[in-house]
Amino acid sequence: MLVSAKEMLTKAKAGKYAVGQFNINNLEWTKAILQTAEELKSPVILGVSEGAGKYMCGYKTVVGMVKGMIEELGITVPVALHLDHGSYEGAKKCIEAGFSSVMFDGSHYPIEENIAKTKELVETCNKLGLSLEAEVGAIGGEEDGVIGGGEVADPKECKMIADLGVTMLAAGIGNIHGKYPENWAGLRFDTLEEIQKLTGTMPLVLHGGTGIPADMIKKAISLGVSKINVNTECQLAFAEATRKYIEAGKDLEGKGFDPRKLLADGVAAIKATVKEKMELFGSVGKA
Ligand code: 13P
Repeated sequence: MLVSAKEMLTKAKAGKYAVGQFNINNLEWTKAILQTAEELKSPVILGVSEGAGKYMCGYKTVVGMVKGMIEELGITVPVALHLDHGSYEGAKKCIEAGFSSVMFDGSHYPIEENIAKTKELVETCNKLGLSLEAEVGAIGGEEDGVIGGGEVADPKECKMIADLGVTMLAAGIGNIHGKYPENWAGLRFDTLEEIQKLTGTMPLVLHGGTGIPADMIKKAISLGVSKINVNTECQLAFAEATRKYIEAGKDLEGKGFDPRKLLADGVAAIKATVKEKMELFGSVGKA
């Protein structure tokens, strides 16, 4: 079922676990994530960046593929199809195309403009029963050409955005997209705690899930994080398994060049990564 992320995240916040957002890049990714969620009876959020949306031939193609797959694979767990780091225009396009959830990332605007644009989208999403994620304090690192400064959010600004009635809130707490540098200082739990105190039951979102140590993930969940985004880790796992397949010369054996064989180890690696994260986040059996 394609559903808004509101109910699954409200349950997660109350139950002190987190639902994973796994970004999709193509058919193999989507299938691997949906099958793993079903197998583990876990709710799941499929993330689509604007770049990945373009790559997959537009938002309508993505909606068609995901809805078709849910039906044909007999997926029964709650699935939200979510725009990741959307622009204002991108959010509107995804709403039109049939996404069940969108993120409007206005973190690079002055706070007044972030508030004005987020407010407008809150009204639209509420009317249509869609979930909306907002962001305060840019997430560091680079994702799809969007470079964030790795800010630490101002808890008061978080409260201002939360009060607009968004479904969930992403706040920069020293997290970055992609691999973490050797000298990374870790998550700012002091800031997270302050944000949590001011925003109460609002599900908080942790971006840049790749490479955050398990103990930090658990602590973040205990402090109110109920959605965790993972992208790079699946890409690294897929690339490594595919490289090994080719380096072992398996594409040259028999019909090993058939894409269904060539990509199979990579797909299995995505599944293993998603499983590991769902177990760590505590969402297994919560569908
Ligand atoms: P990673 O690529 O670091 O896992 O981050 C994913 C993310 O936050 C998507 O918004």
